[in-house]
Amino acid sequence: MCGIVGYTGHKDAGKVIISGLKRLEYRGYDSAGIAVKNEGSIYLQKKKGRIDQLDETEVPKYDAGIGHTRWATHGKPSDENAHPFLDCDENIALVHNGIIDNFNSIKDELLDKGHEFTSETDSEVIVHLIEENYHGDILEAFKKTIEFIEGSYAVALIHKDSNELIVARNESPLVIGVGSGENFVASDVPALLDHTKDVKYLLDGDIARVTRNEIEIWDEKDELVERETKRIDWDVEDAEKSGYEHYMLKEIFEQPKAIHESILGRLTSFDDVDLLKYDIDSVQFIACGTSSHAGYVGRYIFENLAEIPCTVEVSSEYRYTSPSDSTPFTILFSQSGETLDTIAAAREARKRGCNTLAVTNVMDSSITREVDEVVYTQAGPEIGVAATKTFTTQVIILYLLAIELGLKKGVLSRDKAEEYKDELRRLPRKVERILDDMDKIKDITERLSESRDIFFVGRNINYPVALEGALKLKEIAYIHAAGYPAGELKHGPFALLTEDTPVIALAVKDHTFQKMLGNIGEIAARNSPVIVVGDEDREIKKLADDFYFIPETTPIFSPLLVNVVLQLIAYYTAYRLDRDIDKPRNLAKSVTVE
Ligand code: F6R
Repeated sequence: MCGIVGYTGHKDAGKVIISGLKRLEYRGYDSAGIAVKNEGSIYLQKKKGRIDQLDETEVPKYDAGIGHTRWATHGKPSDENAHPFLDCDENIALVHNGIIDNFNSIKDELLDKGHEFTSETDSEVIVHLIEENYHGDILEAFKKTIEFIEGSYAVALIHKDSNELIVARNESPLVIGVGSGENFVASDVPALLDHTKDVKYLLDGDIARVTRNEIEIWDEKDELVERETKRIDWDVEDAEKSGYEHYMLKEIFEQPKAIHESILGRLTSFDDVDLLKYDIDSVQFIACGTSSHAGYVGRYIFENLAEIPCTVEVSSEYRYTSPSDSTPFTILFSQSGETLDTIAAAREARKRGCNTLAVTNVMDSSITREVDEVVYTQAGPEIGVAATKTFTTQVIILYLLAIELGLKKGVLSRDKAEEYKDELRRLPRKVERILDDMDKIKDITERLSESRDIFFVGRNINYPVALEGALKLKEIAYIHAAGYPAGELKHGPFALLTEDTPVIALAVKDHTFQKMLGNIGEIAARNSPVIVVGDEDREIKKLADDFYFIPETTPIFSPLLVNVVLQLIAYYTAYRLDRDIDKPRNLAKSVTVE
């Protein structure tokens, strides 16, 4: 949801900012803009569309500036609504990520005072309010302005007479990159990796002044504070495509490594969190989108391995449900750790007296400050907008947690736990075998790319995988897809089945397999093409129009393998349709608005 980059130092600011923005394009790509300090003035360029629309050759070589890539909230994508914004006298340029809740009332007051606005955005009010409060000291003007602003923001600004960046964060991410004779600010670490791996994460309420040699930070009480410098262990290559045509494909292929890294050191003892501290007799999983599907899979894993009853809630709904007396242990999933709905749900769960644990992929992300415990997925940076390896690693964490809980509760024997752990160790190799078959999977997608509607059906632990397969196809191929429990189709959706409506059936040899065969037979009888993904079986070879059999595994681990096949199906279907796979229309990677 919008990406911000700022630079001050000895390099060409325009170049640093534009290359940084390219690394943040996954956060939004409705428009892009840059402002650099020029000789006694501010040079501004902003355009509707992607960062490539900016003409780098026109940006004067100067040593401080800010840039922005936008995901539109207030005001449609257009040149006018693109950031940065200037004040009336064009002394100050500002970029913003977040939402200013009270912008209408501020704007009315500023209009009365004669300020002229050039956009429909909420963000523009900030720069005019700073102009109003400016009496020679930009930091003071900014601090005063922030007092009047309600909402979420990561803000960066420059003044035409200074090389410093003034930045602040509240509920939107902002990180300072620490260099030598130069410093950076960005919404996310990938924008910094070409220049530095040393970063300071700002906390909510922090305001900072960043010059090329100095970083000063004030906390919400306006006290000068130190924020620890942390070393990032991601490499530039982790944030690049490394020869793959799309980030999504690269990230699908990174899954064996991501699984390996996520189990590394955690199979002998899972000490990220001391679960014994908590009295866990029920669990609720809360998340959005793909992360919520991990929660649905988690429900089956926890109920099976740890015999703990579970519920699953979508974050944006949970906070509006009526509180009850129950206080289930609450596990929130968020790849980015910045999804506003999930952060709000974490606060609400705590308010209701629940102990909370966040599973996230991003170190020190906002959600980590809202919960009692944090477990990191170790998937490395995920740039493609569609979540792939992070879903896989979220599910891996669920196995680890459930095994740990099952052992502690005495419902899982040591031998059984070891058996599960051995299978976890074998999973990277099994995923590799699926990836080796990518051409076979690509062939399956030929008929899919011509379809208007596609159904995904599964049972038991593979029902949420059907939901996830449908979501992936929708978001990157723009084909209408719906996931259903296989037994539900005949309660309505059967009316839509025709010979042009393929059904992807997930058939794994668990206790629901025979029922699944029955469902596949019913679908085939309606002449819909059936594609089966699941365990090898003679009956399926007879019934299905096409099939892909996953490497043998215990049914409880099948979601991971089946899902990798569905990721490739979505990818190649979108590829055939020439979609913008890494940046699907209307989407952004981290959704920091409600
Ligand atoms: C789908 C996708 C989204 C995210 C959702 C939650 O491929 O990526 O559905 O899963 O926006 O994001 P996080 O996990 O960052 O909270």
